[in-house]
Amino acid sequence: MKKLIPNTFNLPVYANDVITVNSIQQLLDCYEQATSKNLPILVLGEGSNTLFTEDFGGIIIINRIKAITVTENEHYWLIKVGAGEIWHQLVRYLIDNNMPGLENLALIPGCVGSAPIQNIGAYGVEFEKFSDYIELLELATGKLIRVTDGKYSYRESIFKSQYLEGFVIVHVGLKIAKQWQPILDYGELKNFDPSTVTARAIFDKVSEVRRAKLPDPKVLGNAGSFFKNPVIDQIQYDILIKCYPSMPSYPQANGCIKVAAGWLIEQCGLKGKKVGGAAVHDKQALVLVNNGNAIAQDVIDLAHLVINTVQQKFNISLSPEIRFIGKHGEIKPNVLLS
Ligand code: FAD
Ligand code: EPU
Repeated sequence: MKKLIPNTFNLPVYANDVITVNSIQQLLDCYEQATSKNLPILVLGEGSNTLFTEDFGGIIIINRIKAITVTENEHYWLIKVGAGEIWHQLVRYLIDNNMPGLENLALIPGCVGSAPIQNIGAYGVEFEKFSDYIELLELATGKLIRVTDGKYSYRESIFKSQYLEGFVIVHVGLKIAKQWQPILDYGELKNFDPSTVTARAIFDKVSEVRRAKLPDPKVLGNAGSFFKNPVIDQIQYDILIKCYPSMPSYPQANGCIKVAAGWLIEQCGLKGKKVGGAAVHDKQALVLVNNGNAIAQDVIDLAHLVINTVQQKFNISLSPEIRFIGKHGEIKPNVLLS
């Protein structure tokens, strides 16, 4: 009998089997079982950045390889974490145990092993800042490989390209500076006094803002920001800012400008827009939600509508942040949404 695939969009999607693994050996056994039956596998954390476009014709492996080991040197806490630990629980554990640093990244859903893949980021901080090494299992050989340069950028890393197939992240090594410095550049965090603020206060504020803005997937299915914030060149920016002086924008190191996709979508009048059971979230237009009865095609049709409308109004092409998975595995967004 087919099994329901856990996914935070809460879509009714099924796989031949869904198996939870707690160790590298179980992971390898699962892989062998699948290859002997000629079935594809897909490793998932919590399915919080993934849209299954149809049932998956293979075995879903839920990674729950756990354990947190802490060592230290003069300047850093060195944390080795099982890829199946829950990210937010790790953030809380480190703050509770006086190893602050990850507080801006509180409440991001998903597993620790998924964090490097899209270089998770929020409130002015990205995973990259703490990455020491990523330990990957090569499925065909059972070999463990340590990658120290993840080639991170905004929502990108080497784990989305070079290590996409045949490798599973099994451990993540973090390096957290003992000399803690608060990062208070983003939004409401600017109100804190850097000389007195604590990591706990930042953790609490980030959690409060996130709870107010972002829908809880347990209540309203979603996968966070559906699209990335687009980066445009100075010439296009100069044209747009003349017409829309209030457009939020973030200058980049290379001279280009990142603009807020949520703002662009809202300006198109699409907040709350529904297609079938899917909708543009009414508090955060960058988030597409499942109102309870959506099927994957509703979400895809809505994403199409958003992309086309923003393209027409602003001449900006939105790219999805989330990953699309079809019957046989990952589907490139340009195949699905062009
Ligand atoms: P999954 O969806 O389970 O997996 C994502 C991809 O990685 C899939 O292709 C999967 O096959 C692959 N994968 C998973 N585990 C492994 C592994 N061990 N080895 C190899 N491949 C693997 N993201 C941000 O960056 N910032 C935010 O602020 C943010 N806010 C969010 C808010 C909400 C409400 C939601 C629902 C999502 C949000 N996200 C955010 C997106 C999401 O939380 C992150 O991308 C997270 O890292 C995904 O973790 P996951 O374990 O659920 O990944
Ligand atoms: N905005 C609107 N209307 C909207 C949404 C946003 O006008 O409907 C405006 C806001 O007023 C603000 C700007 O757009 O001026 C940016 O909005 P916000 O601070 O909410 O952040 P975001 O750019 O929409 C990004 C990340 C989030 C991350 C937050 C906080 C991306 C794609 N998304 O969202 O990450 O939590 O910043 O740092 O970069 C995710 O990746 O899944 C995710 C939720």
